[in-house]
Formats: sequence, structure tokens, C-alpha cells
Amino acid sequence: MDLQLSGKKAVVTGASKGIGLAISECLVAEGMHVYGASRTVTPELAALGIPTLAVDLSHADSGERLVDHAVEQLGGIDVLVNNVGGGAEGADLAGGFLSLDEETWQRSLNLNLLSAVRVTRAALPYIVERRGSIVNISSIGARASYQPVDYGVAKAGLTNMSKALAEEFGPLGVRVNTVTPGPTLTQNWRDPEGYAGDLAKAAGLDYDEFMARIPATMGITTGRLAEPSEVAAVVAFLASPLAGSVTGADYRVDGGVLKAV
Ligand SMILES: NC(=O)c1ccc[n+]([C@@H]2O[C@H](COP(=O)([O-])OP(=O)(O)OC[C@H]3O[C@@H](n4cnc5c(N)ncnc54)[C@H](OP(=O)(O)O)[C@@H]3O)[C@@H](O)[C@H]2O)c1
Repeated sequence: MDLQLSGKKAVVTGASKGIGLAISECLVAEGMHVYGASRTVTPELAALGIPTLAVDLSHADSGERLVDHAVEQLGGIDVLVNNVGGGAEGADLAGGFLSLDEETWQRSLNLNLLSAVRVTRAALPYIVERRGSIVNISSIGARASYQPVDYGVAKAGLTNMSKALAEEFGPLGVRVNTVTPGPTLTQNWRDPEGYAGDLAKAAGLDYDEFMARIPATMGITTGRLAEPSEVAAVVAFLASPLAGSVTGADYRVDGGVLKAV
């Protein structure tokens, strides 16, 4: 199927690894001109040969900086993928609500919600010009009660913002959708010293045993974690003119984790 994306221009945040890298790879493979942003430029991102900006999107002026650079390089924006996000570094994953202090909440909201607010605010005039679209990467944490609660609350805000933007900018020809991944095999899950390793320790299990139990404990219907490329494929479809009547939607790529209709 030709997604009719060839020659169109996309900005992807959090492009250096994980889901953002897979999205960038997928959009490049579809013939798009992609501009990638993250704090670091990894060898994998550099290998894509696309223009990039090293930028910390938790800073207040970062959205304008990124969009100015991207428009200078690309000459416009058809598609924005707000992918940056994740748990606050160093958070106590087993601590619960009372372990989350003011600073942790600020960091989480900043990274998972306000980064997208800033980039979207700066990019929207260009996206309106080209009757383009936005895809926001949320999480199952937005739609169910998982720990840590700060992350889910920030992602719920992002999902809500997508719907509001779809309504406000739909009449101007702009589509806005959300992709909601469940557990996806990025470094956070692959690295025994990373997020999954911390969860394993909190559960009193070694990493391999913890990972083997994840499909059952999280209720993953497919029996495995998703691949980043599977999230990327849905993003590419939503970015495509073929999805011209899809807006304000939330597509789950969670292997069936969320059980409610
Ligand atoms: N993996 C999962 O299981 C899962 C599940 C549900 C939702 N999600 C969501 O999917 C998105 C991608 O997750 P992932 O697992 O691919 O995460 P990841 O592997 O940790 O990648 C995060 C990306 O964001 C960039 N980044 C982080 N902080 C940044 C900052 N302050 N400024 C600019 N860039 C920043 C990182 O690059 P640098 O470190 O170089 O800055 C990296 O490119 C996130 O929004 C996450 O919440 C993931």
C-alpha cells in the first residue's frame, strides 16, 4: 500500500532511540523528509542521515528552537510526532503517590506533557499552512491506573490535548491523533540495569524471571511485548492522507493490555 507520504516533511521528537527512532526509520522508508530531535544524537540516528537537533525539550524555549531549525532545513512541516516522554529518571517506582515530591511531578509533567505543548504551539502555524497532521505518543498509563501515577496523569493530559486540538484545528484541515503503546521492547525493557531492572528489583525477582512473567502479570493478550516498529507502523498510517477521516482518535498498540471497550 502506498501511504502517499513520499516527499512530505516530518518532525519527530525523541528520535535518538526506541519508539522515536523506529518512527523516524519508518517515515524515512516511506520517502519522507524527517527532522529528528533529542538530547543526544545516537549512532543509530546519525546512520539515518537525516538533519537533527540536540535539544532538551524540557526547557521552556525548546519548542520554538526546534521548529525554527526544522523549518529552516525542511521548508515546512506536514507531520509532527510528539514522541518524547518516559518516567522521571531516578523515580521510586514502588513508592506510590506519597513518594512523588513536587520536583518529580514537575519533571514528569514537563517531559510528558509540556514538551508536546511547546513543540505543537510552535509547529501548528506551519502544519495549518500544509493541512498536515499531528500524532502524539501517549501510554496505557493514560487510560488505566498504573504506577507511577505522575506519568499516567501527564499522559492522560496529552491524550486529552490531542482530542482538543483535533476539534479546534479540524476545520482548518489539520488532523490530530494519539497512539497509545503498551509495554514495548525498547531499551527501558531490554536493559537489566534500566526501568525493567528496577521493577524486577522492586518485585524481588531477577530480571529474566521478571521479564518472562510480564505477559501474564500485565495481561498482554498477544503473550509478548510490542516491537517499536509495530508502534511506528500505526504512526505512519495515521500520518498518511489515507487516514484522512481519522482524527481525534486514540489507537492502542498494547497487545490487548487494556481490557475495557
Ligand atoms: N517503551 C514502552 O514500553 C512505552 C510504553 C508506553 C508509552 N511509551 C511512550 O513512548 C515514547 C517513547 O518511549 P521509548 O520507550 O521509546 O523511550 P526511550 O527509549 O527512553 O526514548 C526516549 C526518547 O526521548 C528522548 N528524550 C528523553 N528526554 C528528552 C528531553 N528532555 N529532551 C529531548 N529528548 C528527550 C531520548 O533521547 P535522549 O536521551 O538522547 O534525549 C529518546 O530519543 C514515550 O513518550 C513513552 O512514554 C513507551
